Amino acid sequence: MLFERKGIKMSKQLTQTQLDEFKEVFDLFDADGNGSLSKDELANVMHSLGMNPTNEDLEAIFIKTDTDLNNAIDFTEFLQWITNKVDITSKEDLRDIFQLIDSDGNGVLSHDELRELLNALRIDLSDDEITQLIQQADLDGNGVIDYNEFVQSEGLWTKIKLTVGVTHSFKEILKQYTQLAENPSAGFGTTMPLPYGKVNAKKMGYDVSQFPAQVWESSCMCGNSFSFGSVSKGETVIDLGCGAGADLCVAASLVGETGKVIGVDMTTAMVKKAEKNAALCGFSNIELIKAPFDTAKHKDIPIEVADVVIANGSFNLSPRKKCAFVQAFNCLKPGGRFYLIDVIREGSIESEAKKGSWCDCVTGAVPISKILELMKAVGFVECKHIGFPNYRLSDYAIAATFLAKKSG
Ligand SMILES: C[S@@+](CC[C@H](N)C(=O)[O-])C[C@H]1O[C@@H](n2cnc3c(N)ncnc32)[C@H](O)[C@@H]1O
Repeated sequence: MLFERKGIKMSKQLTQTQLDEFKEVFDLFDADGNGSLSKDELANVMHSLGMNPTNEDLEAIFIKTDTDLNNAIDFTEFLQWITNKVDITSKEDLRDIFQLIDSDGNGVLSHDELRELLNALRIDLSDDEITQLIQQADLDGNGVIDYNEFVQSEGLWTKIKLTVGVTHSFKEILKQYTQLAENPSAGFGTTMPLPYGKVNAKKMGYDVSQFPAQVWESSCMCGNSFSFGSVSKGETVIDLGCGAGADLCVAASLVGETGKVIGVDMTTAMVKKAEKNAALCGFSNIELIKAPFDTAKHKDIPIEVADVVIANGSFNLSPRKKCAFVQAFNCLKPGGRFYLIDVIREGSIESEAKKGSWCDCVTGAVPISKILELMKAVGFVECKHIGFPNYRLSDYAIAATFLAKKSG
């Protein structure tokens, strides 16, 4: 069918299935869920496509794309733009996409690689469904997908190709945080060295003598989650983007045996390390959930159980920021507190794009005003910017602390 809306004619023929797939990709980047992309949201799409747009580039796209001149790109306008950017009929683009999924670089896609990828893309499939997905594309029946089979694959595979093409930042995030969990001595950061480990934790004001060195070695906090709000005995704490669990252990020591601590992270290696660290410190009241924190209402993340939700350095990594704030709100009991520490952006997108990357906590960072706006938009009250921990990544990327409440 030829897609036509508001008098705009698409240059390419798109089927309804393809349209649905593009819509899902559009929704992924429509961080505030208002049905259109602002310049910031468009910049995020471009960054995850590996582009570094200047303000002039963004202006130029808006002039060409924003045909109804309302200063936002709606789905129809997005379609016109994106179909020229990710061409899943191009063998070159497909080769890049294939290589991104083939994380061990052995030239075939395995069940495990697909499982990891689908988790990162928030496509919820059981092991049986992944096996079926492989069978659909596995023309020679050897149980793995080679490049030629990948090129010919259709159905859900098309959505995977599109989504990976547009959102490969997730893959970078998984890679970066897997390495930090498994091999902390190899350093941290892709475009620049990032602060991490025991030295950074000490600088952020943690008492690093409290736990063994292993608890701190893969930590990468950008402030101290316990510096600006109290956590009391018997309370329940949820940490969204808990990493290797340093904050989980501190929280467990504060809530005591009558309290409970739940850590959520999408990187398997981090979840495993957090479990080990909890056991190493002898805490039996720490539970780990491997899940994305930014799908708003993940089935595995409990609702209305937390007195305190913390997120330390993790929300900037999500392109679905509004969903992340909704999830924080949903986790809290009425009257609960949200302690957020995150990297925020002080300068222009143009300066930032040149200085960092998404998984280095720079590109996805938003200004303080945007964080307060999102907090209020999802229902938090008493939303406050509290201060700035001593943590700076660039001239334009600096950590800030925030406190918000869910009314009782
Ligand atoms: C900068 S690290 C901070 C880790 C931890 N809070 C600490 O202080 O050490 C960010 C963590 O968030 C996780 N993460 C990023 N995006 C996520 C998402 N959408 N859902 C769940 N976890 C995510 C990463 O796997 C990583 O462990």
